[in-house]
Amino acid sequence: MAEDVEKTDIELEGVSSATMAKLKKAGLSTYESIAVTPSREIEELTGMGADTAQKVMQLARVKVDLGFIPATQVLEKRMHMLKCNTGSPDLNRILGGGIETDAITELIGEFGSGKTQICFTLSVLAQLPVDQGGFGSKVCVIDTEGTFLPERIKQIAEARGLDSNTILQNVLVARAYNSEHQTILIKNLPQIVHEHNAKLVIVDSMIGHFRGEFIGRGTLSDRQQKIGSCLAALLRVAEAFSLAVVLTNQVQAKPDTSYGDPNKPTGGHVMAHACTHRVYLRKGKENTRIATIIDSPYLPEEKARFGVDAAGVVGCEQ
Ligand SMILES: Nc1ncnc2c1ncn2[C@@H]1O[C@H](COP(=O)(O)OP(=O)(O)OP(=O)(O)O)[C@@H](O)[C@H]1O
Ligand SMILES: [Mg+2]
Repeated sequence: MAEDVEKTDIELEGVSSATMAKLKKAGLSTYESIAVTPSREIEELTGMGADTAQKVMQLARVKVDLGFIPATQVLEKRMHMLKCNTGSPDLNRILGGGIETDAITELIGEFGSGKTQICFTLSVLAQLPVDQGGFGSKVCVIDTEGTFLPERIKQIAEARGLDSNTILQNVLVARAYNSEHQTILIKNLPQIVHEHNAKLVIVDSMIGHFRGEFIGRGTLSDRQQKIGSCLAALLRVAEAFSLAVVLTNQVQAKPDTSYGDPNKPTGGHVMAHACTHRVYLRKGKENTRIATIIDSPYLPEEKARFGVDAAGVVGCEQ
């Protein structure tokens, strides 16, 4: 038994077990996570010297073979990407099938537009097997606003005929109390997702704490740099572990709008660039919600209508 435990631990040639332990403690417990973490960040996370950090990063890169590969192989990898059912066929359609692995999907909208409802629904549906539109995996949730409601997850699971206890067991939740805490939780994700083999990570909401804590013009670049570093870490996790990241983001009023929608997503360019797909949500007629893809490398700017009821996100095509 002890041997099995040994075997699952990673090894890097010429690196002491003490150094390996430091990496593990910092959440860098896979070759992938070490290979894709900048050496300066490895230094900060582990307290090891610059030379050692460089060395472990390079050795890990050899293990995971990061380098040029033919585009056919990239296509092959992308063909294995999974898409998670959102609960609404129309929303799935505009997302090109559903919430995608290896990418960050950002849900943007004002209060009550359905961001958290989508997160709850995904927390349930992602657990279904792949042939039923899920990832067949656990889900990690970072709740920054204290809006995570297990009762609602239970309701959604039961409305869909699923065993709510099992579903709740497989949603791992961390409450982030401030931006620093949120950052630590994000930086520790490699360890958690590896340990639990989670294929969906949710951060609801991404920017709230940063907006609340960094007030005034002078703090803007510091804030943006810190948000950027979290987003880069999230993208690395998405790619290294082939999982889906879903972030929520609120909107703020643009003071200079004379026509069109006066709201724009918070987080500025840093957020806009880091997120693969941006989905803008608003309230529609008769308690429906309207989602629009606003910025995606390959999805067209399309609109979808969905509903929210006891089962979470549902279609409203009838
Ligand atoms: N059980 C339910 N049945 C029907 N509709 C529901 C149910 N639970 C929540 N809703 C709808 O979802 C809305 C809340 O949406 P949600 O919590 O996703 O907002 P949000 O976009 O996350 O907002 P915020 O920015 O405040 O976090 C409620 O106003 C209600 O219309
Ligand atoms: Mg919410």
